[in-house]
Amino acid sequence: MKIAFIGGGAMGEAILAAVLNRGLSTPQKIWVSDAKEERRQHLKQTYQVSATESNRDAATKSDIIILAVKPQNLPEVMPELSGQIKPGQLVLSIIAGARIDTLCKGLAHRQVVRVMPNTPAQIGEGISVWTATPEVTDTQKEQAKAILSTMGREIFMADEGYLDIATAVSGSGPAYFFLFVECLVEAAVRIGLAEDTAQELVLQTMIGSGQLLKKSGKPPAELRRMVTSPGGTTAAALQQFENGNFNELVSRAVAAAYHRSKELGK
Ligand SMILES: NC(=O)c1ccc[n+]([C@@H]2O[C@H](COP(=O)([O-])OP(=O)(O)OC[C@H]3O[C@@H](n4cnc5c(N)ncnc54)[C@H](OP(=O)(O)O)[C@@H]3O)[C@@H](O)[C@H]2O)c1
Repeated sequence: MKIAFIGGGAMGEAILAAVLNRGLSTPQKIWVSDAKEERRQHLKQTYQVSATESNRDAATKSDIIILAVKPQNLPEVMPELSGQIKPGQLVLSIIAGARIDTLCKGLAHRQVVRVMPNTPAQIGEGISVWTATPEVTDTQKEQAKAILSTMGREIFMADEGYLDIATAVSGSGPAYFFLFVECLVEAAVRIGLAEDTAQELVLQTMIGSGQLLKKSGKPPAELRRMVTSPGGTTAAALQQFENGNFNELVSRAVAAAYHRSKELGK
């Protein structure tokens, strides 16, 4: 597969590394363009891929063009590529909030896949939600699926509207988890644990609980009830969450992310 990466930052590199690791492509068939010389050097040296500062050069050489710049850089990238992308080339965008319609118009190209990945993609544990224009062929969909599978799981949604929901849940979700970890470490330190012990205790508790949830196949509510004896320590803690309206707070946070995602796409 000939692939161009427009933007070789954290997410671009994660996809690049995964694609090479899984043998979907070879360094000779990969071009990366990035505004930063330092990034270009890093990617060249680490992966032996070709790197250029010209987005146009990279894009015209490939079958698949992965757009991985920040949303604020998209308006400068689209005019450079507009009119340069040929029928048969697939554009795969991971840019948060960039709508299919905006991409198709800005690039003057109709074969576009839009993806919402998340950061665990960097270790092959991500989940990507994606959609495609009707002009994307079945073969191109298979190629997109293969690329996304290198970063973890993937779910296709025919309706683009679901990408805003995914943004609020799986896209921003890792930050919700990290915040909870931070809070729990802080709370542990406040009641007497040393910071490094608190971190170890919290991290393994979170990872272990996630694995238990995955491997047991039991719903989270059931696992929660199993650790909560009436009148016990967990019950005392959970009562505090309830008093603070934890459910409602999470719900408001996710709704805010969802509305922001829709707003950014306008
Ligand atoms: N990171 C996440 O959690 C996450 C999750 C889902 C989706 N995404 C999406 O993934 C995309 C990339 O995110 P990221 O975290 O990898 O960003 P990033 O690290 O900032 O990478 C973007 C790279 O593109 C370069 N660049 C800027 N303008 C350019 C231009 N005109 N032409 C070519 N390269 C240019 C940047 O250089 P400078 O630094 O010099 O600007 C930077 O090296 C974003 O659109 C984001 O919405 C990210």
